[in-house]
This record gives sequence, structure tokens and C-alpha cells, in this order.
Amino acid sequence: EAFDVMVVGSCMTDLVSQAPRLPKAGETIHGHKFFIGFGGKGANQCIQAARLGAKTTMVCKVGKDFFGDNYIQNFKDNGVNTDFVEQTSSAATGAASIIVNDAGENAIVIVAGANLLLGSEELQKALPAISRGKVLVCQLEISPQTSLQALRMAQENKVKTIFNPAPAIPDLDTGFYRASDVFCCNESEAELLTGSSVTNVEEAHRAAQELLQRGCGSVIVTLGPQGCVVLEARDSTSKHVPTTAVTAVDTTGAGDSFIGALAFYMAHYPTMPLEEMTRRANQVAGVSVQAVGTQTSYPFRKELPAELF
Ligand code: RIB
Ligand code: NA
Repeated sequence: EAFDVMVVGSCMTDLVSQAPRLPKAGETIHGHKFFIGFGGKGANQCIQAARLGAKTTMVCKVGKDFFGDNYIQNFKDNGVNTDFVEQTSSAATGAASIIVNDAGENAIVIVAGANLLLGSEELQKALPAISRGKVLVCQLEISPQTSLQALRMAQENKVKTIFNPAPAIPDLDTGFYRASDVFCCNESEAELLTGSSVTNVEEAHRAAQELLQRGCGSVIVTLGPQGCVVLEARDSTSKHVPTTAVTAVDTTGAGDSFIGALAFYMAHYPTMPLEEMTRRANQVAGVSVQAVGTQTSYPFRKELPAELF
């Protein structure tokens, strides 16, 4: 079986509290709503790609627990192939405690649990599928060595790679840059990786140049409402791709919606300019910020304007 989009990454159960603001250290505040959702950057990206019409598979590990069982059902409900979803009794399904304030901003603590037990053995099992797919996507909520190995496996088999260094780590192995056809990060990740401030388009252009020099095929720096900056190795200057303004209700997982959409476009329209793919992915992610939750807010193809396809 050949897949359009393969994600080697994380699954988390999101425990979300909506509150007027984020609490300070030592403080207890009243929130107004609590809900449990399906999250984790890897799975979020996979689900968004699937909802746009990509044939997807997820390589991941959850616990042999209630949350893990539910998560597998969630993949099935969304049409994601689960041949490479494993369950372990050695750790619990990953969990994310999320607080969302009235401005739609969030603070998140993740306990990766079972995600950290995904390793080379599981990758070897998935290799036949990985080698025949179109686009492989990785992040940093599983062990970094596993992500790097997956990206390299894909590249050795001429499969396009997207790497999303999230959540960012300061001393990222330089191998990640060379293993990324598209290196896609947000402003705070770009800051951590370059050591320079990235708060506007101008600074994002500079960060993209610096990251590109480390060896990736192209760089995308996402800037939320300011759109994103795209730099391809064959071009000398980066381009700013603006986005349409929307009223944010909950921005949690918007970056994952963007990456999932980008993976869909790369798989389905391989000759489309990267700038155009990012313009469209911005629009998909823009829809997601207008509803609460991560996956619950991700649009399906049928809900989106036809011009995006
Ligand atoms: O990017 C959003 C995701 O980050 C959430 O779903 C949460 O699980 C954390 O991993
Ligand atoms: Na949302």
C-alpha cells in the first residue's frame, strides 16, 4: 500500500481548561470550561492531512490503556491507517495539560509517556510503507533520534520530508537540517534555533536565511496572523506570504493544521510552488483557530472553498 502522507510522531490526550487568563506560579484561578480531546502534534498533522483527502498512515505508540484504545478508534474514525500504531504496557498514553485564555492563547505541559518508546524497531516494521510513500512528516514529541532516523529513511527512498522542530530544543542535531526537504517552524522555535529575535517578517527573513544555510531544502517560518516567510534553496531571497485576518478563539494546534495541510499539498500537487502551498495551508489553519480544540477544529475538504483544491 502506498500512502500520500506518513507521520512518524506523537499522540497525546489533550486535557483542556479554558480560563480568562493563564495562571501565575503558585496561583489558582477559576476556569469556565474543561474538555478532553485528541491531540499530539504528530497525530494532529496526520488528521488534518486526512481530512483534506490524503491517504495517511501514522507510525506511533500509545499506552495499553483507555486513552490509547480511544486514540486508535479516533484514527479509524478519521480514515487514518493504523497498521503502525502500537500499544505498550510499559508507559501511559501521552498527555497534554492545556490552558487556553480568552485571547485564544495557550500554555501547555506535555508528558510524552508511550511516545518516547517509539524507536528503530517500529521504524523497521514501517520501512516498506515509508519507502513507497510520497511525504513523511516528523516533529519533536517523540525521541529525537527516532525522528531523525525516520527522516533519513524517507530521504534515502526519495520520499519528500517535512520536519517541524516542535517543541523546539536548543541543541538540535545538525543532521535534522540536511534530512529536511522542508524545515517548518514557528517564530518562537526559529528564535530558539537561531538565537535571534523573530517577531516580525523582517526578522523571519533573516532567520530563514540562517536556517537554510544549515542544509535544508527549504525553510518556512510561520508567524501566526502575520502569515509566513518561505525560502527555497534555489532562490536567493525569501518571500512573505500574508494571510487573511480572522478572530482567534483557540490557536492550539493551528501550526499542526498548517503542517498537515502542507503535507497534503506536497503529496497531491508536487509541482505547485511552495509559496502557493503555504498560502493555501495558511487558509486551512485560519479556519482551525476559529473553533475550540485542536482536531475538533480542523476543517474537512467539503467545508473549504473549492479554490483550495
Ligand atoms: O500543537 C498542539 C499540540 O501540542 C496539542 O494537541 C498538545 O497535545 C501538544 O502536543
Ligand atoms: Na482551534
